Parts: sequence; C-alpha cells; structure tokens
Amino acid sequence: MRRPIVAGNWKMNGTQSEAAALIEGIRSGLADVKNAEVVVCPPFTLISLVAAALDGSGISYGAQNLNVYDAGAYTGEVSGPMLRDLGCTYVIVGHSERRALYGESDDVVAEKFRAAQQHGLVPILCVGETLEQRVDNDTETVIARQLDAVVDTVGIEAFGQAVIAYEPVWAIGTGMTATPEQAQAVHQFIRDKLAALDGAIADGLRLQYGGSVKGANAQGLFGQPDIDGGLIGGASLHAEEFLNVCRAG
Ligand code: 13P
Repeated sequence: MRRPIVAGNWKMNGTQSEAAALIEGIRSGLADVKNAEVVVCPPFTLISLVAAALDGSGISYGAQNLNVYDAGAYTGEVSGPMLRDLGCTYVIVGHSERRALYGESDDVVAEKFRAAQQHGLVPILCVGETLEQRVDNDTETVIARQLDAVVDTVGIEAFGQAVIAYEPVWAIGTGMTATPEQAQAVHQFIRDKLAALDGAIADGLRLQYGGSVKGANAQGLFGQPDIDGGLIGGASLHAEEFLNVCRAG
C-alpha cells in the first residue's frame, strides 16, 4: 500500500511570523489527519524556523529547488548538502515555474534529481503539460519526454526513492483543476510507463497531483487509484484549507 503524501509548496511566500503562525495552525489540526504523510516546502529563508517549529510533529519538510553543484562560486544558489544540513527530507525539482521562468531544461532537471539523491534528499519530480500541449494532444508525449530525461540520467532504480508530481501547467494557480478522470488518466500513463521498466518500483512509487487542489476537490482526486496525494500551492498557505486537503489523503 502506498501511503498518500500531501506536500505544501509555499512558493515565494511568507515572513517569519507568517510561517510560525501557519505551522502552529497546521499542528493544531493534525490529530484528525489519519492517513497522509504531511510535508511543507517553505522558501529557503524559512527552512530553519520551520524545522524548529515542526519538531516532534511528524510533519516532514523540504525545499523548492537546489543547485546541481555542492558548493562554490554560484552566487544566490543553494545546494543539496546545505539542505541536508538543515534536515530537509524532500526537495522539489523541475517545477513548471522553474522550467518556464528560469529556463530549466529536462536535462538540468535530471541533474537536480541526481544531485538531490546524492545528498540523501528525496526528489519530488514535477512533470506536466501546458494548455497548448493538451489541446494539441501532446500530453503523453510531453510527460514521456520529461520522464525519459530523468530515467536516462539516473536509471529506473532511482525512482525507488522519489515522488512524482503531475502538475498540468494550465491547472496551476488558475482554479481550473483537472477532473479526477483527467488526472487519473495521466497518473496511470506515468505508472504504466515506469512499470514497463520495473513493475515493483512503479507499484511503490507515489504519484501526487498538483494544480488548484483545495479541500473541496481533494477527495475526488485522491480517491483515484493512481493518485497518491497532492502537491499544493495556494491552499497550503492557509492552515485550515491545507488540513482539509491533508484529511482527504
Ligand atoms: P496551486 O495549488 O496554487 O494551483 O499550485 C500548484 C503548484 O504549483 C504546487 O507546486
């Protein structure tokens, strides 16, 4: 059985006092989250504070990005060893905002996946198509290309220690969530594709859905056979809404 995993991607949001209040709110409602593993991914500046605030809660935390290099003259960047030093368990790689706004290619994403695992971090690999690609019937081609780049770099075995988030770009921050059936179809495609390489790894791999998930639609999505939780943006910034999503896990 795959344990559902619900992760909050805070993106570039939060002051120290806002983060402290958000964690306090999440902790206070955690007792009735029965099933899902809960994760928060704050901006780098808040990781230490969040780590301390989560102590003893059972909630895991991670980062939203990392550099492929361990250290050196890379102004403004943060590395895998630094995140590990902060006690991070997870790191998001290949989020569509990084692909689109910061030019991260499939190959760079694959190298980030590798760098994460080299330092004991579990990558949450984001894949997903744009609206134009969906309309052109290219969804599976795009997802396959994004996955192949990583499989070719690290091998299928590496997916034994990873999470994949399917995030259709058109559903992110738009309120236009994929229907459970649309999401399930792509999740099944991902699992089947990886199962062709290694059935046991594909079967154990947790596949999150991301894109306008909130309390009201989480249950329908997470109830699908190949959807094992979600990667949550906007709704993860509100304790009660995030908890409602976690309860659906
Ligand atoms: P929203 O939940 O705000 O649509 O964002 C999804 C996302 O990008 C999570 O990584």
